[in-house]
Amino acid sequence: MIESFRVMAKVTQLLDVRDLVKHFPYVQRRGCFPKKVALRAVDGVSFSLARKEVLGLVGESGCGKTTTGKMIAGLLNPTDGEILFEGENLTGLSSGKKRLLRRRIQMIFQDTVSSLNPRMKVGAILQEPLLVNRIGTAKERRERLAEILDEVGLPPDSAGRYPHEFSGGQRQRIGIGRALMLHPDLVIADEPVSALDVSIQAQIINLLLELQDTYELSMLFIAHDLSVVRAVCERVAIMYLGRIVETGDTESIFAHPLHPYTRALLSAVPVPDPAVKLSVPPTSDEASSPVNLPSGCRFATRCPQAMPLCHQKEPGLIPDRAEPSHSVACFLYDNNGDGI
Ligand SMILES: Nc1ncnc2c1ncn2[C@@H]1O[C@H](COP(=O)(O)OP(=O)(O)O)[C@@H](O)[C@H]1O
Ligand SMILES: [Mg+2]
Repeated sequence: MIESFRVMAKVTQLLDVRDLVKHFPYVQRRGCFPKKVALRAVDGVSFSLARKEVLGLVGESGCGKTTTGKMIAGLLNPTDGEILFEGENLTGLSSGKKRLLRRRIQMIFQDTVSSLNPRMKVGAILQEPLLVNRIGTAKERRERLAEILDEVGLPPDSAGRYPHEFSGGQRQRIGIGRALMLHPDLVIADEPVSALDVSIQAQIINLLLELQDTYELSMLFIAHDLSVVRAVCERVAIMYLGRIVETGDTESIFAHPLHPYTRALLSAVPVPDPAVKLSVPPTSDEASSPVNLPSGCRFATRCPQAMPLCHQKEPGLIPDRAEPSHSVACFLYDNNGDGI
């Protein structure tokens, strides 16, 4: 019985990321001799995403969010690990099949200036995914173009203009339109509103949520601030130096943040309820880097609650006994290695 539930649970997952690793070659110039080392941008990340679910991937700049997103979208090859999409491992597929599956995973980028070709008119940018994949006749492509412009809230005459003629918010509408052209199942939205004015952010988030509903999209929503994530995501994964340190339902993470890093992130977010007091101070600037990772827990060098064990051993992600959907990688909850 339990086994059949497990099988069902597996089938409903659209995306299953297992032990994903990306190391970049890096030349360290310390002393006289440059040394080749690995920059461990993503270092064993696992999570899954159900159909129509929105999962937030949160962490400070440089923790490996974009690299994770790009590997899932097929824009970077993983060093190790598996990306299962509907149970099929994308890293081991033939190029033809990979291309077919890749259509169903699209990415929205933070920087709309560099992600939209400045020499192409918006009509051509939006039709490009259809042309590259040889989908539809010229008439059908024009019809889809008109439809998508309407859906993302751009006037029909936008098709004949260049990206630089648009504001940041409008350019992000173009980026969203391009990602949706092929009716994907999964969208990786990489800090889609971080570069926009605060007044525009809410409009773009509302548009994304509307379209997520219409297109029944699963979404990996990458962000570095938790207040946006709280408004958008059902579940959150907190990332620190290439690893997920805490994951759970958004409400549970906000109500009972467990990891000292999550607490520090949360204390940087304005809290609407003055009764809620977070005791952990914000993280110090003394960050470790993905090149020189400390032994033990990666956060230990900055953690106000670090114990001797934290400098010796790396904690695994372990479910909270009271709430198994909420997991944390921290010895404060797992002192003897047998769970929280
Ligand atoms: N193409 C690359 N070559 C070398 N290092 C990279 C490359 N892309 C990212 N990195 C490094 O990997 C780490 C993670 O980067 P990134 O995934 O962009 O982080 P985030 O999106 O969380 O800010 C950073 O230290 C960054 O400098
Ligand atoms: Mg990034």
